[in-house]
Amino acid sequence: GTIYLEDYQAPPYLINRTELHFELGEEDTIVTSRLHLLRAVAEDVPLQLHGQELELLQVSVDNEELAEEAYQLTDDGLLIHQLPEQCVLSCKTRIRPQDNTSLEGLYKSHRMFCTQCEAEGFRKITYYLDRPDVMSVFTVSIEADAKRYPVLLSNGNLLETKPLDNTRHWVQWHDPFPKPAYLFALVAGDLEHIEDSFRTAGGRDVTLRIYVEPKDMGKCDYAMDALKRSMRWDEEVFGREYDLDIFNIVAVDDFNMGAMENKSLNIFNSSCVLAHPDITTDAGYQRIEAIVAHEYFHNWSGNRVTCRDWFQLSLKEGFTVFRDAEFSSDMGSRTVKRVEDVSMLRTAQFAEDAGPMAHPVRPESYIEINNFYTLTIYEKGAEVVRMIHTLLGEENFRAGSDLYFSRHDGQAVTCEDFVRAMEDASGMDLGQFRRWYSQAGTPILSVTDSYDAESNTYTLDVSQRCPATPGQAQKQPFVIPLAMGLLGDAGNLPLTLAGQETDHETEDNTHKVLIVDQERQQFVFDDVRERPVPSLLRGFSAPVRLEYDYDRSALCQLMSRDDDGFVRWDSAQALALQVITEVQQQLSSGAAVVIDPLLSGAFVQLLEDTSLDPAMVAEMLALPGESYLAEQAGEGAADVDLIHRARAAVKQAIGEAAEQVLLARYQALSSVDAYQPSGDQIARRALRNSCLDYLACANGAHLGLAHAQFLSAGNMTDRLAGLRALAFYGAANDWAQPLADFYQDWRHETLVVNQWLQLQAAMPDGGALDRVRGLMEHPDFDLRNPNKVRALIGGFAGQNPVNFHRTDGEGYRLLADVIARLNSINPQIASRLLAPLTKWRYYAGRQDMMRGELQRLAALPELSPDVYEVVTKSLQ
Ligand code: ARG
Ligand code: ZN
Repeated sequence: GTIYLEDYQAPPYLINRTELHFELGEEDTIVTSRLHLLRAVAEDVPLQLHGQELELLQVSVDNEELAEEAYQLTDDGLLIHQLPEQCVLSCKTRIRPQDNTSLEGLYKSHRMFCTQCEAEGFRKITYYLDRPDVMSVFTVSIEADAKRYPVLLSNGNLLETKPLDNTRHWVQWHDPFPKPAYLFALVAGDLEHIEDSFRTAGGRDVTLRIYVEPKDMGKCDYAMDALKRSMRWDEEVFGREYDLDIFNIVAVDDFNMGAMENKSLNIFNSSCVLAHPDITTDAGYQRIEAIVAHEYFHNWSGNRVTCRDWFQLSLKEGFTVFRDAEFSSDMGSRTVKRVEDVSMLRTAQFAEDAGPMAHPVRPESYIEINNFYTLTIYEKGAEVVRMIHTLLGEENFRAGSDLYFSRHDGQAVTCEDFVRAMEDASGMDLGQFRRWYSQAGTPILSVTDSYDAESNTYTLDVSQRCPATPGQAQKQPFVIPLAMGLLGDAGNLPLTLAGQETDHETEDNTHKVLIVDQERQQFVFDDVRERPVPSLLRGFSAPVRLEYDYDRSALCQLMSRDDDGFVRWDSAQALALQVITEVQQQLSSGAAVVIDPLLSGAFVQLLEDTSLDPAMVAEMLALPGESYLAEQAGEGAADVDLIHRARAAVKQAIGEAAEQVLLARYQALSSVDAYQPSGDQIARRALRNSCLDYLACANGAHLGLAHAQFLSAGNMTDRLAGLRALAFYGAANDWAQPLADFYQDWRHETLVVNQWLQLQAAMPDGGALDRVRGLMEHPDFDLRNPNKVRALIGGFAGQNPVNFHRTDGEGYRLLADVIARLNSINPQIASRLLAPLTKWRYYAGRQDMMRGELQRLAALPELSPDVYEVVTKSLQ
């Protein structure tokens, strides 16, 4: 059933201490708990513990075994009547981790035992108050076969370890920090580790370890380095120090998400922690750095201060994503990081906001919480925190963060508590700003302007509106920080808002943040000596769709001369979008295709300017993706084939027009230096591979470059870029052999095999569907491994629009068939795979087929709540 935020009630019982004992076995695992309970309300209410798929062997209160009539077992828990106000409740349960394919609770990945408890996996381990506002001090003992499982880990400090008299051994861990059950973790396996140490600002020496299966020992160094940099950065920028003597990371191959911030025992999807130049691309390195930082930062934003209930999920996730983005910006290029994040937000989060699962940053209801680990909670939540940062300024924001952590240390709190700490520390009123937490949907900011040459005044007319979303027909105006500047002939102009004193102290008088907080507003600038081009939404200062009717020459000016790097990129995107859209119209009307040379001209200029950051040039050369173009077309108007053809035609035209400079830069950017995942090298490779992409697209003769690069590359970034160019722009005889060779060379590296699967799933040729079907039978494919499913099935449905949207509906059928099978194996993954089908409203001529598959799924017997929720909401 549906759970509502407004029904929240504080827990009637507390669990001050939790003692757990695990007997790990190949057939059975026995979990014995001792919960030190305290009733928190005056009346004697029954205790309702959560529990799923558990076999209860024994239950006792204060060491007295309970008679069967003293408790009731239900599908999702254990109800106990008449407890003393304070007592120790003990349960003995049997579970079978080796059969747990949901990868929630305690399960096995290869030969290793591991856990994933967030959000509600702990209830698959033992009966408990599995809610984040019940915080408890955990003591955990584990016994297991000493040969198979020499390493036994849990949260906190290792208290004791001893051999047992048979072949087994025993350890005990104690975590002094009270925590909710979702932060519990256990790992047992035959693991090896690397070790390092970190001295905190306060002088605490912390032992850092990364545990992996022996095959992965050579791939841990980069994550260790990223961890140490994260620890230092959080001290310097947020004043947050680590609080225990030990910090462990474990890599597992079977994992539903990216990673998990369990107290002092972070567990990672191996794809998000293991790195080596042979197997990891530059993008992979950057992802690892960001995720290691993200999980580490949760130690404060998530663990020391946690969530009261799951409606508050963005309290920890939005804030922590903001923190990891700031970290990445400080480690590399701030503008490039911003561009990457905004590009993802605008493609995927905007689509979520416009779709059937749209929800506010603080949702008001859900059926299955696992469905709400979304781009809205994470990325839009981070944008909301970023706007607070913009409104308050650096110093006040830091004061607000300090106050939040000190005021709520050790507590389970709400988004409201976060905003109030920001208000209290800054003296700023965020009353209306709070609507960002409660209203779903992406606001549209519409801007028009006028210039009066006589009075030298320039006026911006700004209005905002927000489309209806499920359950929210009407929206109130948001507070939108609109960062802007004005571009004149000789550069950005000084800004004087009419009726406002100019602050001569501020160094930069060419940049302003306008506060838009009404439906319509006007901003008048004085002393503007020429008609300017407005530079709007600099740095993407708010998660809104901006409407301003730029002509192409204005976009070219912004692109080459605005002070704001984000606006330069965004103008290139807008220009490319205009040109591609025009080609789409020409193609569909049968008119002659004329590709505006302004775009290729602007790109040539970018390529010729060697003073620019190559990473930024690569970002600016990247044409808007096909899913972004589909989203831009609007509901009922996206024609995937037309989009694909138009985008390819534009790309080819650019490749032809810029051929000489592309070749020149391709050659000049080659390097003989040993591979480093440094910003400088990554930037050079990014631009070089984007040159290769254009060249291979434009002219079959350049496929030779791609092939040569594939053969000679000394790292995975360049090797895969070469292979990808062959696979995307070549014919079967260009790519068949390289793909086969690549597999032979790397079949022993599961993370590389996943990239191989993903590339083949995304190839736009007509054979894609059959190829994907074939690869599902490949010995290296496994429906129970989420990384493989994401690579092959997710790659096909998410990155191969022309084949997924085949007019015969076979693409949809393939996806729905897989989802039907995964529904019982791993509901979380099944539900995530549904996303492409939920966008059915966009696709002209395909809506009925897409809906048909959703209806077929809806009719399945025993639908998991995960799949049920997404399917039914999508069909409403
Ligand atoms: N808290 C984890 C992170 O942000 C993600 C956990 C996801 N769990 C889930 N059931 N979806 O890093
Ligand atoms: Zn997180």
